[in-house]
Amino acid sequence: MESMMGQSVVLFLSNTGHTKAVAQKIATATGAQLVAITPQQAYTAADLDWNDHTSRSYREMHAGRVRPAIQPVDAAVVAQATTIYLGFPLWWATAPRPVDTLLDSLNFTGKAIWPFCTSGSSPIDEATAQLRRDYPAVAWHAGRRFTTQMTGDDVRAWSQR
Ligand SMILES: Cc1cc2nc3c(=O)[nH]c(=O)nc-3n(C[C@H](O)[C@H](O)[C@H](O)COP(=O)(O)O)c2cc1C
Repeated sequence: MESMMGQSVVLFLSNTGHTKAVAQKIATATGAQLVAITPQQAYTAADLDWNDHTSRSYREMHAGRVRPAIQPVDAAVVAQATTIYLGFPLWWATAPRPVDTLLDSLNFTGKAIWPFCTSGSSPIDEATAQLRRDYPAVAWHAGRRFTTQMTGDDVRAWSQR
């Protein structure tokens, strides 16, 4: 089955563990390889304070084109993948900048990517619209917001779309 479908990989950013828990469930449900997107400089609690307009997260998300350094992801992981699940927390309803760093750092042209997120309450739609606009060479599939209560059936229903 896996050889017919090609390789699949879950690439995820998670600073406080919610998206990681969802990414692990997706990997288990699909048999995908699990690969973290790791910022070179981890986000501290102070960095993640969205009420503080001087915090790192606020500044990164409200400046123009910011690409925080990440630990390199093996290009072969992406080159061999036919299915990519791309997960992140929503920040101001969009994907955090290290996701852009990843998308800029490797060749995702023509890759089938299913974006997913966790969030306090915001839906994923604004994030997916921005990703489609900024990375038009990717074959984007339906985005999905998950909670950590999600099931393998939720994953299978979504990843077939
Ligand atoms: C800087 C920052 C901005 C956030 N902005 C939003 C938002 O716009 N809408 C929302 O519903 N949740 C927002 N959240 C909540 C996160 O999306 C949520 O806690 C997420 O599950 C964290 O994922 P993680 O534990 O994988 O890092 C924000 C959190 C942070 C730290």
